Amino acid sequence: MNPTFFYFLPSLLLIGIVFRGLGEAYENKPLACVLVEEIGGGGSSIPRTIRQTPVELYLMDPLNLIPEAPITSSPETLHLHVIDPSGKLLSPRLSSCEVTYLLPQEVPLAWVRSLTEEKRSPRALGHPWYSLSVKDDSDGNTVSAVLGPQGEKDDQLTVFLAVYSPSATLYARLGDPLAVPCGFWRGQQSRFAVEWRHRALGDGSVLYAYDGRLDRIEEIFQGCEMNFSTLHSHGNASLLVDKVAVSDHGTFLCTIYLPYIRAQRDMQLEVTALPVVTFLPDPLFARPGEEITLSCEVSRFHPLEISVDLLVRLPGDSQFSVLPGVSLSTHTLNKDGTFSLTASLSITASPERHGARYFCKVRHVSAPEGITRSNTLQVAGVAGLSLEDGMYLFAVALALYGSLSFLHRKFKLFFGTHESKKDE
Ligand SMILES: *[C@@H]1O[C@H](CO)[C@@H](O)[C@H](O)[C@H]1NC(C)=O
Ligand SMILES: *[C@@H]1O[C@H](CO)[C@@H](O)[C@H](O)[C@H]1NC(C)=O
Repeated sequence: MNPTFFYFLPSLLLIGIVFRGLGEAYENKPLACVLVEEIGGGGSSIPRTIRQTPVELYLMDPLNLIPEAPITSSPETLHLHVIDPSGKLLSPRLSSCEVTYLLPQEVPLAWVRSLTEEKRSPRALGHPWYSLSVKDDSDGNTVSAVLGPQGEKDDQLTVFLAVYSPSATLYARLGDPLAVPCGFWRGQQSRFAVEWRHRALGDGSVLYAYDGRLDRIEEIFQGCEMNFSTLHSHGNASLLVDKVAVSDHGTFLCTIYLPYIRAQRDMQLEVTALPVVTFLPDPLFARPGEEITLSCEVSRFHPLEISVDLLVRLPGDSQFSVLPGVSLSTHTLNKDGTFSLTASLSITASPERHGARYFCKVRHVSAPEGITRSNTLQVAGVAGLSLEDGMYLFAVALALYGSLSFLHRKFKLFFGTHESKKDE
């Protein structure tokens, strides 16, 4: 017998054990999903209803094609066995999952037409296809996948296309560059198209459309780019926005097309602009009994949700207290889409308030720690110096002393040289 056989045998066994282990990891726990269908609604009088069917989705490794008979939780539960060559569905933390039926079809869009030029029927059209959307609730990553038939059995499926991105809201500073993330997996399929749309308040528009088969950009919105090297090599279809504008606020939709099928991800973009805060009057001087208006001008911020508070810390007090009765102006809309407003409050300058420190505190999504401006009230003619006044006077005295002694030295020096010149 060939001696190499004896080396070969243990490694075969080892491989067998590894694959068994993998198989168990895959098959261990099904993903709990819901199949959502819209039923009825054929005639205008019949209302459409949504039917939800529980689905148990078993992820299988490609070598373990014959699934064990699942333990049936309820008779109407649909059991799907999915091979995931993309590796994108394999996460134990994936938490919400929705399945819908998908009908493979041609798409009459300029950037998709070339993918189905030959008009060959999609593979295995007689079997059900599904769209799957799985969201990992712990980190917000979401995968949209197209599942199609693996063989002749309706419950044996494989991933044909997977599109993934974080689904949490993205924040971008006004004027900054931005990459709106979108990645995809398409297996060996060389024909694909990418489309980016933007939607805000109902109206949608195409920002970018690229036919990957013909390597042709069909639509492009000014200031948008894609990195073609990472697009073709890594399936990175991120949209690169040159300079974020307020009009970019809204939903970005990344759609990847393969012949007859597509998958889509959507992301919310929130454009933020940091407010410029000015607290007036500055300096804050008043005569006793005089009424003065504190105004806190908050300008060029976005989005509109903002809170502006005026607070006071009275002399000798360590506590801040929120001042009631602050009036907020209506906001103005600037040309670049940002907002401005003013918060104001009238106060009466009494001698007891001399040294009180007034604060304007702004809370906004663009500044997690908040923005604070403050001014100290100086009431004219108040006896007794505050610590700051004392320090100020001390500084003045010091400066005065310094300049006097400097002049004195110069003076002596001047006469000294004068005298020595006379001596020569
Ligand atoms: C595309 O991405 C790669 C890798 O991140 C980078 O090296 C390259 O400079 C990018 N190309 C362009 C045109 O931005
Ligand atoms: C895709 O490219 C963008 C910008 O080039 C980058 O920020 C992002 O991390 C990339 N994503 C992946 C999944 O490689």
